[in-house]
Amino acid sequence: MHENKVVYQPLIGKTAAIILQMESTRTRVGFEAGLAQLGAHPIFLSTKDTQLGRGEPISDLGKVLSEMVDLIVIRTPKQEDVQLLADSSSIPVINAMTTLLHPCQLLADMQTFRELRGPITGKKVTFVGDGYNMCHSYINASRRWDFNLTVCCPMGFEPNSDILEGGTKPRLERIPEKAVSGADLVVTDVWSSMGHEGYEMERKKTFKPYQITESLLDLAAENALFMHCLPAHRGEEVNETILDDERSVVWREAGNRLHSQKALVEFMLKESIANP
Ligand code: CP
Repeated sequence: MHENKVVYQPLIGKTAAIILQMESTRTRVGFEAGLAQLGAHPIFLSTKDTQLGRGEPISDLGKVLSEMVDLIVIRTPKQEDVQLLADSSSIPVINAMTTLLHPCQLLADMQTFRELRGPITGKKVTFVGDGYNMCHSYINASRRWDFNLTVCCPMGFEPNSDILEGGTKPRLERIPEKAVSGADLVVTDVWSSMGHEGYEMERKKTFKPYQITESLLDLAAENALFMHCLPAHRGEEVNETILDDERSVVWREAGNRLHSQKALVEFMLKESIANP
């Protein structure tokens, strides 16, 4: 809609607080640009600019922001803090990533697959890499959209056991060639995410056999797509060229962070739009 120069501003008069306690490019720009395009006013809050940095409890922040704005977006290491904020707020709270989950990224990934290949239900999806937040959100998505998920990770880097026990389990596979065989979608993420500072060298060695290359993708289904939430580390989880391979849809996937987050924000605020 924005690309077509259509002005659609159902959120005029609304304000959103965007709290980012970890770095972000796509998520921040997607929310800030998206809210502005929808007519709302985004307020970016980093830890160091707010009283959070001086120890104000997150539950107090939820109560205060609920008096002032219409929506809160938060990226913070601890999933419990998102829950605390949601429990103490009377307005919608969006999880913009924790070390456990990255649900906003999955909205963009699912949108991208649907746009290019139709419904993902029943498809074969392979996540190659660390059993961390992206992998956990893929497990949740596989239950929500009913696709067949294979997780391919080194020993000791399996997904969180609570997430695994929460419903249908993914197939666990150690060998990347076996894991991607016949896959309709292959996904990876960085080998050292936010929260792994200091372990980068050790992780590079462990994850070396798990790099995504053209020859690995050749084992996937004929029409397979490749996704990565970005930022990517060329020479680590991806080789130097795979992001520009015709099977890679990472730039469209990144663009869909904007579109899917706009849809999410509108969905979350639709009740207050209908009853201002
Ligand atoms: N994929 C993702 O969340 O990107 P940012 O960390 O740049 O927001």
